[in-house]
Amino acid sequence: MSPISKPRSPSPEHRIAFFQAFLRKPKEVGSIIPSSRFLMRRVVREARVDRAKLVVELGPGTGGSTRALLRTMRPDAKLLAIEINPRFARLISQTISDPRLVVHVGSAEDIAGALRANGLPAPDVVLSGIPFSTMPRNLGLAIIRSVHEVLRPNGRFVAYQVRDRVEILGRQVFGPGQKQTELLNVPPMRVYRWEKAAR
Ligand SMILES: C[S@@+](CC[C@H](N)C(=O)[O-])C[C@H]1O[C@@H](n2cnc3c(N)ncnc32)[C@H](O)[C@@H]1O
Repeated sequence: MSPISKPRSPSPEHRIAFFQAFLRKPKEVGSIIPSSRFLMRRVVREARVDRAKLVVELGPGTGGSTRALLRTMRPDAKLLAIEINPRFARLISQTISDPRLVVHVGSAEDIAGALRANGLPAPDVVLSGIPFSTMPRNLGLAIIRSVHEVLRPNGRFVAYQVRDRVEILGRQVFGPGQKQTELLNVPPMRVYRWEKAAR
């Protein structure tokens, strides 16, 4: 049997955990339900996840988006999922059994530290579903700077967001990016994409 087990669909327990976390910390969770499969398909395509050797996911939540990434990723690739909520991180570790996945409890501000702690090199892609519009502006800027710092040249940063705060911050660090909208998600979501310039 392949060591890569088929990721299971999110259980009602995951949905309840997501909603409860939203009630406790609405600004940190940023959404009452996980992303739709239509949104994740678009995100995966924009990030070129199928070509990546190392993907970093910021804010995997209960793991629906993580499953979508793993379904597309190469068998020899790695996924580092950085989640600030220890309960979410535990749920993901308990439900997704895949040797490509490393779950790290911590804040997206310190991606370099998370990579170092897990012996991982510069990622090809960083994906983010964390809510930039409800966090302090300086924290959002620090997170995007840390994305830019760790990405390998020509690497992509893809962020899906309801509001445009990430666009304003992302422009300061990466320059202008690409924007799309996915209507088949509750609520409709903007998908931003940047590429780190090659030196
Ligand atoms: C809108 S949810 C997205 C969940 C999942 N990726 C999805 O698409 O369904 C945002 C997630 O970001 C996490 N988060 C918020 N701030 C964070 C930070 N600074 N570092 C890491 N994770 C963070 C939250 O705990 C939550 O799991």
